[in-house]
Amino acid sequence: MDKLSGEKIILAIESSCDETGCAIIKGDTLIANAVSTQIEIHQKYGGVMPEIASRLHLENVLVVINEALVKANITLDDLDAIAVTRGPGLIGALHVGLQAAKTLAFVLGIPLIPVHHLCGHIYANEYTNQLKFPLLAVVVSGGNTELVYMKDNLQFEIIGETKDDAIGESFDKVARVLGLPYPGGVAIDKLSKLGQHTYKLPMPMHDGTLNFSYSGLKTAVINMVHTAEQNGAKVDINNMAKSFQDVAVGEIIDRVKRATSKYKFKQIVLAGGVSANSYLRSEIVDTYKGSDIQVIIPPIWCTTDNAAMIAKVGSYLYKEKVFAPLTLGVDPSWKIEDYRKF
Ligand code: KG4
Repeated sequence: MDKLSGEKIILAIESSCDETGCAIIKGDTLIANAVSTQIEIHQKYGGVMPEIASRLHLENVLVVINEALVKANITLDDLDAIAVTRGPGLIGALHVGLQAAKTLAFVLGIPLIPVHHLCGHIYANEYTNQLKFPLLAVVVSGGNTELVYMKDNLQFEIIGETKDDAIGESFDKVARVLGLPYPGGVAIDKLSKLGQHTYKLPMPMHDGTLNFSYSGLKTAVINMVHTAEQNGAKVDINNMAKSFQDVAVGEIIDRVKRATSKYKFKQIVLAGGVSANSYLRSEIVDTYKGSDIQVIIPPIWCTTDNAAMIAKVGSYLYKEKVFAPLTLGVDPSWKIEDYRKF
């Protein structure tokens, strides 16, 4: 029935890190979104254990696919295509989602659509706001820190990126040395509201470009904590959280300001796990209050990994017939600019 009505039904799978997701989109409407999170299990280890993540994806992928089909009240025969995260992410974790997607596409005889994880994070915003181009996508996550210039729909140019650690990775490592639970960004965000910026941390690299560097900042915090421990002194965790967060987020605001002085944008769009950070959100909104650039902030449910965002990109790629052969492999370090190359 739906096949004749012209509204295509796409099932999407996401398994790039520690959430196994399956979502179903019909035309532009999300009709199911199922997520199985592994966070509690990885918390025991203070971070994501790649091997455990892969095994849990294997256990859960069919569970979430079934849950999504039941929620959408459809069967596999109703599907027109399968979209799947092909990268970037953890190699073993990506493999599980891709093998499930290839199997479905093969058995059902329908197209396989490879989706770039970070395109997903950017387009997740479309569930609440219409994207207007040209825009600046500020992609801040556990594995990536990128400023992406989007001249038009599905056009991506990286104009700035981290030269070492991602911002989320530095939040997680700083949190770990402070004895806070994974994911560290959530804990630092919370505790920094109780602290003051009292620790003098070094400003990260400024080379006049739009690039970032977070490893020096992270190491400075780790060294301060270790030195304090060796001297029998106590680090004030709330103040350290606030001092670190101010500098880490300040870097994003600085590069965004530079980008907006160099390029013309209609919107600034936040994307990725770190876009949940309350200080980043308020700083970026305050910075552009009253300007003609609209700031788009994703709803919190879109900041964590999910398959709804993969389904959204999948629906665009379906229209452009971006289909992959069943020999497709994953790419853990796939560049957003190469999202059509696989
Ligand atoms: O997008 P995501 O799942 O990572 C990748 O796909 O690479 O984001 C996870 C990252 C973690 O580093 C986590 O600490 C961070 O997002 N994060 C936050 C907050 N919530 C999550 N960082 C700062 N403030 C938050 N509120």
